[in-house]
Order: sequence, then structure tokens, then C-alpha cells
Amino acid sequence: MERLSIGTNVFVYPNPVTLLGTMVEGRVNFMPLGWLSRVNADPPWIGVGVYRGHHTARGIRENGTFSVNFPSADLVEAVDYCGLVSGSGTDKSGVFECFFGELKTAPLISACPLCLECRLVRTEELPTNDWFVGEIVASWADEACLTEGRPDVRKMNPLLLTMPDNRYWTVGAEAGKAWGAGAGRVKSEKDRA
Ligand SMILES: Cc1cc2nc3c(=O)[nH]c(=O)nc-3n(C[C@H](O)[C@H](O)[C@H](O)COP(=O)(O)O)c2cc1C
Repeated sequence: MERLSIGTNVFVYPNPVTLLGTMVEGRVNFMPLGWLSRVNADPPWIGVGVYRGHHTARGIRENGTFSVNFPSADLVEAVDYCGLVSGSGTDKSGVFECFFGELKTAPLISACPLCLECRLVRTEELPTNDWFVGEIVASWADEACLTEGRPDVRKMNPLLLTMPDNRYWTVGAEAGKAWGAGAGRVKSEKDRA
């Protein structure tokens, strides 16, 4: 099949869908966030790409904290709503029931199977977005979504996002063991050497 050049507006496939939690002028606010990544092993740092004009960016700059909440697919309607309206014009503080952990300005969502509390450690100003790097200071998981004490993606049933077709997805079947599926090839190369 021929390879086609498809331009430059290309994204990571798929993005996870999370809810970025902040307090802005004392009010809880959440926005859906697809652009995030763990960016450092130790200390545990996570990066989030936030358009500078979003209300959320104000909250992160104001408090130096944020939360990252992983919703399950059944929350899709509430998640999407938070992406259609801005906290600058709409009070989103009542959309989810919240709790607080160690940081008093990083609201966590009770209905989400996994919630992270982050303290801002770096801000990189990119042309349109801020890349906020936060240190994970605590994480909270719904016990029902754990297997042997670790988040289990089958139980979490997280939401995924594809862009630019802008669709939500759920996770499919496991395809193999990471740091394991290639082990046979490593062994045969060693045997040949
Ligand atoms: C599924 C989804 C993912 C999104 N991911 C991002 C993202 O990674 N970064 C970003 O700046 N905006 C993202 N947005 C857009 C914001 O969530 C949206 O503009 C939101 O209303 C901003 O809210 P705020 O002004 O209250 O902060 C996303 C929206 C949706 C629906």
C-alpha cells in the first residue's frame, strides 16, 4: 500500500483522557486534558500541556498545584461537558463530588478510580501552551480498581481520545507483556553470538 504524507497536525495515538483539577480564586475547576506524560522517573514528575488562555492555567499559576484525575468511561458526559465550557464563565465546581488529600488546592474527584496530587516544579512557556511539570506528591485509588495494589486498567476502564477526529474510546485487549514480549528474540541473539 502507498504511504501518504498527511501533514503536520498529528497527535499521539491515543491520548489518555484525564481531568485536570485546580482552584481558581478559591473555586474548584476541572478541564479534560489529553496532553500529559510522565516525564521523569525519580522524582516522579508529570507534564501537562495547557493552552495558556484556559482558566485552568490561571489556577496552576495561582497556587502552584494541580490534580490529575483518571475518569472511567461511564463519566464521559460529565468529562466532555467540562471541555465545552470554561471556568471563566461557568461554575464547574459542582460537576463532581470532590475531596482533598495533602495539598489543599488540588481538588480530587471521588468518582475517579485514580487521582494524583501534584506540586508545580517547572513551567515551560511554549508558543500557545504552558507545559507545567508537577511532582506527584500523593496518589489515591479506588480499591476496587486495584490488582495486587496497582491500578488495573481493565478495572479502571479509562477513557482514551483520538485527535483530530475527536473521538472517545475504551481500552481493548491486552497485546502482550512489556519488557517481556521481545525476550525470546534477545535470547536467540545471545545464543547465536
Ligand atoms: C477530551 C478533551 C481533551 C482536552 N485536552 C486538552 C489538553 O490536553 N490541553 C488543553 O489545553 N486543552 C484541552 N482540552 C480543552 C479544554 O479542556 C477546554 O477548553 C476546557 O473548557 C477549558 O476549561 P477551563 O477554561 O475551565 O480551564 C481538551 C478538551 C477535551 C474535550
